[in-house]
Amino acid sequence: MSNIDPKKLPKHVAIIMDGNGRWAKERGMTRVMGHQQGAEAVRTIVRTSREIGIQWLTLYAFSEENWKRPKNEILALMKLLKHFLKSELKEMQENGIQLRTIGRTDKLPKDTRKVLLDTIGKTASNQNMVLTLALSYGGRQELLDTIQKITRKVENGIITSIDISEKLVSDFLYTSDMPDPDLLIRTSGEYRISNFLLWQIAYSEIYVTNTLWPDFDKNEYLAAILDFQRRERRFGAANSKGVGS
Ligand code: IPE
Ligand code: IPE
Ligand code: MG
Repeated sequence: MSNIDPKKLPKHVAIIMDGNGRWAKERGMTRVMGHQQGAEAVRTIVRTSREIGIQWLTLYAFSEENWKRPKNEILALMKLLKHFLKSELKEMQENGIQLRTIGRTDKLPKDTRKVLLDTIGKTASNQNMVLTLALSYGGRQELLDTIQKITRKVENGIITSIDISEKLVSDFLYTSDMPDPDLLIRTSGEYRISNFLLWQIAYSEIYVTNTLWPDFDKNEYLAAILDFQRRERRFGAANSKGVGS
């Protein structure tokens, strides 16, 4: 697969899929049509991830702040999600893809939530790749939920404040059993995080492309991974191994 080094793949790729609205506007289409085209890009990126052997793929599909959007756009996104999940189930099963979700998904419309939970249940034993959709997700809300869970443990005398370590916090996040993202991609040229995985991206390599999400194809994705493979990750240490010498 082009010049990708299979031994240096990012284990976990997280993507802020942005630019559907602008893609549609450029073509005189509605924002909803941009989201429909965006769903096609999701298919391509999920398929490519599986092909090249990515183990964890996390996609920011709907933020906690996206509830501020017009009702018709939200409804269209939820309907699109429902159809996407139904249409992708077969391929997820064939390719061993396990679906998960992070976020306050109890806020999703009932019918969408039902299909989401069904799909999660049906794919739960798949082992080749974990696809996590961040839905009604916000990094600060995740941290608040985490702080509340930990505080309750302290209040109940199960732990004390000195037990609160980085490991313990990680264990109480929505992403508790997931590795931190190695590569964070954002499309549409915005240099911001928009409340995505705040704790987890402490040492992620960030890749921003001007390409709008519906145009983000296999070649663009491989280019992002190649770029990642050229980075030297130091994790604060003085050499590339991440350890002192
Ligand atoms: C990303 O595209 C999709 C979601 C946030 C759901 P946008 O809808 O944010 O597209 P732009 O940023 O307006 O172009
Ligand atoms: C981030 O995109 C959220 C998702 C991709 C789901 P937004 O378009 O909502 O972010 P801002 O408003 O540009 O920060
Ligand atoms: Mg946007």
